[in-house]
Amino acid sequence: MSQPYETIILDTDDQGIATVTINRPKKLNALNTQVLEELSDVFTTIQNDESVLAVIVTGTGDKAFVAGADIKELRALDSPSGKEKSRKGQQVFQQLEDLRKPVVAAVNGYALGGGAELAMACHLRVAGTNAVFGLPEVGLGLIPGYGGTQRLRHIIGQARALELILTTKQIKAEKAYQWGLVNRIAEEDLEEAARSLIHKILENGPIAVRYAIEAVYQSGKEAGFEKEAELFGSLCETEDFVEGTSAFLEKRKPDFKGK
Ligand code: CAA
Repeated sequence: MSQPYETIILDTDDQGIATVTINRPKKLNALNTQVLEELSDVFTTIQNDESVLAVIVTGTGDKAFVAGADIKELRALDSPSGKEKSRKGQQVFQQLEDLRKPVVAAVNGYALGGGAELAMACHLRVAGTNAVFGLPEVGLGLIPGYGGTQRLRHIIGQARALELILTTKQIKAEKAYQWGLVNRIAEEDLEEAARSLIHKILENGPIAVRYAIEAVYQSGKEAGFEKEAELFGSLCETEDFVEGTSAFLEKRKPDFKGK
């Protein structure tokens, strides 16, 4: 599966892992309108393609994952168009978060502003040793506008989120790991580390993986409990549940069929 995007490269390997690479290296992969539109399209394609089992999001080059929203474009915004721009970014990143296939950010350098927000919209994050995270927006007279005020708080807690947003300080991979912003640091090959995390996930029951993502992202404790119970119950009627529990009792590896 490959498509004629100008600012994105989409590659899917024979194991069903799609890699979405933001490809504007001369601008450190900054997110302009075209990137957002192409991302929206690519996420729809991935959602509808049953052969895609998992997704890696990364940036071209060894300097930047994504250095943020395109500041040149932002400069021209007024109040209504700024709100619209923020809404568009939120909606595209929500499309990514809403994929019910595991999505891993492979953060290969600067993940600033909208770039950090893109990484946060992925379900899991693996950082290269050169990864740098930061929310520089208040230094530009703005605030994070692609979901960052909400997701950062959920991922690392309010105090640390406010510290990053209000001071604009940048943190490297090690600190991001300590703060829970990234799940792993890839000491060697970043793509390999992202793939290995995905392979570990894909060993498990595919429907259960999908439902687990759905349950974890259900907001509100009561609604979350309700969703959890509903999905738990549905899983009890799957062949994968019979296979997984039988394999345990028979002391063998399960062979899940996704049914
Ligand atoms: N938007 C537009 N262009 C950008 C960009 C951005 N976010 N980040 C980098 N670029 C461009 C630079 O303008 C430069 O282009 P030219 O060669 O045409 O001048 C090119 O990419 C290379 O960048 P630098 O020369 O600046 O590279 P550097 O190594 O000196 O610095 C950097 C790297 C520290 C990442 C620096 O580029 C930087 O600070 N970038 C901006 C980061 C930022 O503020 N991001 C937040 C944007 S606002 C936002 O994202 C709002 C939101 O929540 C949606």
